[in-house]
Amino acid sequence: MSEAVSRVGVVGAGQMGGGIAEVSARAGADVLVWEATEELAAGGRARILKSLDRAVSSGKITERERDQAAERLTFTTDLADFADRQLVVEAIVENEAVKAEVFGKLDEVVTDPDAVLASNTSSLPIQRIATATKNPGRVLGLHFFNPVPVLPLVEVISSLSTSEAAAARAEQFASEVLGKQVVRATDRSGFIVNALLVPYLLSAIRMYESGFATAEDIDKGMMLGCAHPMGPLKLADLVGLDTVKFIADAMYAEYKEPTYAAPPLLLRLVEAGYVGKKSGRGIYEYPAK
Ligand code: 3HC
Repeated sequence: MSEAVSRVGVVGAGQMGGGIAEVSARAGADVLVWEATEELAAGGRARILKSLDRAVSSGKITERERDQAAERLTFTTDLADFADRQLVVEAIVENEAVKAEVFGKLDEVVTDPDAVLASNTSSLPIQRIATATKNPGRVLGLHFFNPVPVLPLVEVISSLSTSEAAAARAEQFASEVLGKQVVRATDRSGFIVNALLVPYLLSAIRMYESGFATAEDIDKGMMLGCAHPMGPLKLADLVGLDTVKFIADAMYAEYKEPTYAAPPLLLRLVEAGYVGKKSGRGIYEYPAK
């Protein structure tokens, strides 16, 4: 097997990319993060540092560990800087054309033939992303869960073209370097977790929209009646209503079943820009602290 991954690239420093960069740096990897502009890179860095501070406050890491993790993180706006990376995880907008362009470019610049090019996509077929490269054997899905520093799962998704060596290297990174639990999923929209979770979130939004119960009672019902850490409407806001809609649309396109159809309230909230916690308003309101 190839040597363990110690040089990681993360494309995108948003909610998911920032989390992946943070856990990788905390685990000792040298992490290079790409963002489109210096300003976005600075914002991403600030969010990661805030999250590292939170880990110090809750006693998960020491101040020294925080400082060491921060030192392992560097930022760039040029994908060509990823030439020496052993694993790159892409976590940008769920737009197939944009992802295809990024993977085409990564495939050109990343020189190690054993390097793994991974997408954190929630729902796009890995096969279609892989096809944008000349080396589809090294392309796979590596799907993390939000908040990345807290949730212990990573889904590893092989396309029909992914080599077992690439899948094994990614799995080894997730389990042995990051200390996450790994499940392997087939390249079908939603993989394992979102294929089950998103219809549930959509059902909760439909239930709320129809006046069946209040948002608070729907969430309370599932938290106290099923011991979920968070109710479905709060969770939809946390994931981002734009992301929920995107995954629902992708799954609807793949399976053509009404259970995956986005309800009108979800469409209106996204159209209004009320996409959940990250925008300050979604199904609930989140006053700025
Ligand atoms: N970053 C880092 N750490 C965080 C965090 C964040 N954004 N949010 C919470 N935490 C940590 C806290 O520091 C705290 O740590 P401690 O126990 O060591 O002190 C711990 O998590 C618990 O946090 P809180 O006490 O503040 O709040 P809760 O107990 O309500 O937990 C939660 C918050 C961890 C978000 C919990 O409610 C939860 O696990 N919710 C479910 C999340 C979930 O289902 N995520 C999956 C979404 S699906 C997905 O991501 C896939 C994608 O493709 C859509």
